[in-house]
Parts: sequence; C-alpha cells; structure tokens
Amino acid sequence: MSRIGVIAGSGLYEIKGLTIKKSRTVSTPYGKPSEKYVCGEMNETEIIFLPRHGKHHSIPPHMINYRANIWGFKKLGVSRIISISAVGGIKKGLKPGDIVILDQVLDMTKNRKSTFYDGKDGVAHIDFTEPFCAELAQALQKAGRKVKVTLKKGGTYVAVEGPRLESASEIKSFQILGGDVVGMTGMPEASLAREAEICYSGVSVVANYAAGISRHKLTVAEVMEAMKDTTENLKKLLKAVFTLIPDKRKCTCKDALAEAKI
Ligand code: HPA
Repeated sequence: MSRIGVIAGSGLYEIKGLTIKKSRTVSTPYGKPSEKYVCGEMNETEIIFLPRHGKHHSIPPHMINYRANIWGFKKLGVSRIISISAVGGIKKGLKPGDIVILDQVLDMTKNRKSTFYDGKDGVAHIDFTEPFCAELAQALQKAGRKVKVTLKKGGTYVAVEGPRLESASEIKSFQILGGDVVGMTGMPEASLAREAEICYSGVSVVANYAAGISRHKLTVAEVMEAMKDTTENLKKLLKAVFTLIPDKRKCTCKDALAEAKI
C-alpha cells in the first residue's frame, strides 16, 4: 500500500473524512517540523497529513522549517506529497475559488534554507526542469473529472518570500515573466521534495486576485473565506485521487539523485 503525504496551508488544517490512527512527533537533523504528523487512512490508502503553518496557524511562511517538514515525510516512508496552497491569481481569467494543478515554478524567495545538500552531506544539483510530478498531476486531473471538480491544467507558481503581500508592480513583472499564481510556500518545498526523491504535486486554490489585478485592498479575511468555500471540493478531490494513484512509481522523481551528486 502506498503512503501519501498531504501538506496544506491557509484555511485547511485537517482532512475531514480521514480515519485518524495516530499522531507522530518526528525529530529531524534540521530541527522540528511544523506540527505532529497525523497518520490515518482514507479509501484504503495510508495518508500522512501536516499543516505547514502549524494547526493553529502560528508559523508564517518565511519561518516554516521546510527542510524538517520534508525530511519528516521521508522518515515516515512517504513517497508522494500532494501540496495544497492558497495563492493570489495573476493570470487573466483566474478567479477566487479556481483550483490550479501547477506545472512550473518561478522562485523569488530570498532567505530560505533550500537544500539538504549544503556541503556536509556532499553536493547535489537535482534536475528541476519539471518541478512537479507529472504522474501525480495526471491522477489529480483524473480525480477532478471523476468527481466533477473543475481543475485548471498547468500553471506557473511564483514563490515569494512574504509575509507581506506584493506591490502592483511586482505582480505586473511576474505576469510578464509568465507567472500565473503567486504564493509564499511552494518553494523550497517542491525542490526539497525532489532532493528527497518524493513525488510532489501542487494544488493551488486561488484565494484572491493578486495585487493590482483587482482594485480593492487585499485582506486576509478574503483569503480564508475563499479557502473555506473550496474545502468541500478539495475534500472530494483528495478522496478520489487516493484511489487513482498507481501503486508503483513510473516517474523520474524516484531517481532524482541518481545523476545529481558530485
Ligand atoms: N500573494 C502571495 N501569497 C498569497 C496570496 C497573494 O496574493 N494569496 C494567498 N497567498
């Protein structure tokens, strides 16, 4: 039976319908993960859930221990992670409530520990041409069709440092660079998962129009409200996808380190 990790952020601090078996505190060489990992079962699949901001949302994006979080999943035997995040919509036509299955990344973060290979354990340059696992993305698309939850196929995630929101000019520049959505947590989560040879898929929920796209001031309340409205759809999507993920991994994520180390 494969073991799937779910990491979620703003507005999603638990998975309803998950039969919880136990919570696990995990120690790592990088310090403490954001929270205890909740281990449970859904549709005969072992699920391990982690709220990336902590269960009371006390950890801001720039303070999350991304290395510990991913290392913890690896230690618990997780081979695939579905990452759910709230984002601002940059691309024309995207509106609050839309769900995007990501396929690219633009990393604008500045101050994060972004690798397990900082010299002590050698040097590695993982291939990141395709930052997200195509096999997992395909299973998510299939699940969306099955439960009639509309998903946008493909999108470029712009990762920013935060915790402040962006200026209108920043968003305009991201748009020119090809960014579709903007968020504060997708990196280095995605690249650390690749270094850990864990498949990683990004499910982004558009919570608001990015700065300057709509004329009104951005509020945290609006982000939380949009996430609450989408929770039912996310739950349906997750429940369905767990049965559609193939047992054996055929993607290249599992061999990410094979030709990456010096
Ligand atoms: N910008 C950055 N991160 C976000 C946003 C945003 O507009 N909305 C939700 N997370």
